[in-house]
Amino acid sequence: VVPAAPSPKEEFGDLVASLPRKSQFLDGRLYRGFWLPEHYAPAIIAFNRRFTPRPDDVVLVSYPKCGTTWLKALAFAAMSRYSYPLAAGDHPLLRLNPHDVIPFVEDVFTDGLDAKLEMLPSPRLINTHAPYPLLPASITAGEGCNCKVVYICRDPKDMVVSLYHFMRRLQPELSFAGVVDAVADGTVPYGPMWDHILGYWRASLDCPDRVFFLKYEDLLRDAGEQVRALAAFVGRPFTDVEEAAGAVASVVELCSFERMKGLEVNRTGTAGSYKSLPRDSFFRKGVAGDWANHMSPETAARLDGIFRDKFRGTGLAI
Ligand code: A3P
Repeated sequence: VVPAAPSPKEEFGDLVASLPRKSQFLDGRLYRGFWLPEHYAPAIIAFNRRFTPRPDDVVLVSYPKCGTTWLKALAFAAMSRYSYPLAAGDHPLLRLNPHDVIPFVEDVFTDGLDAKLEMLPSPRLINTHAPYPLLPASITAGEGCNCKVVYICRDPKDMVVSLYHFMRRLQPELSFAGVVDAVADGTVPYGPMWDHILGYWRASLDCPDRVFFLKYEDLLRDAGEQVRALAAFVGRPFTDVEEAAGAVASVVELCSFERMKGLEVNRTGTAGSYKSLPRDSFFRKGVAGDWANHMSPETAARLDGIFRDKFRGTGLAI
């Protein structure tokens, strides 16, 4: 009998308790330069130290509220298209929320279910919000491991609006100005957001065959183009026959905002173990530029200025 590994909280609770703390709308602990949500910090540290990637793993990473749900759906539909034909009336994405299809590392480790990751068939698709420096070294070092990482980010102003609406479902008294301030001073959960984005941006420049960098706005502009690139990146390019049969368009249509938001499974119930988030909270508006309906030109300019400064000289513009 293999003794059960100690839970991340048992193993890393003291370490987390010793870290600088900030009480925001989510309590945060500063670990290696990032404000991890306190309730997930032990799990992220456990993932960093314990997870053994397989060469064909695909790790989907996002800054929260930047398109995680959409990326999960698109990646799952594209990668599993031989097992689950896209036109099938019983496709898993028609009866399961994307968060219930692809495991979220923070929940898996918090719940002590990491052994279950070992039982998943290859190629595994997993998801985390962990910053690049906190991924397991066996992924970031890239030596002998061809594990793929796909990252998605978004205009920080739209992220702020999305985060505000999402968090307000849990904390009705949350102030919009408070969310803006937390993003601006870097103490937002998983922040600073600019360092989170830059970690993956630089990795995608250094190792373009291992890290694929996506923007939510590019998905909105031409999801088909991004799905093609994503499928090729994970080694499952669409063939000419599939192209002719409209497979890319089928993936895009299956995962479209209207289609997913309208599904019974995404209108009811909860997903994820942390506070059991209402599934409909993952589908709000699904557009770019909604920030203009929520913040003053001054606030927009403040956020734009911060990110422009942080990204100066990196080749990245959001
Ligand atoms: P809004 O709140 O701006 O509408 P995440 O999945 O990282 O939590 O991000 C949530 C954001 O992605 C929400 O943005 C949500 O509406 C949007 N979203 C979810 N599914 C989508 C889809 N299939 N297509 C486009 N946007 C989607």
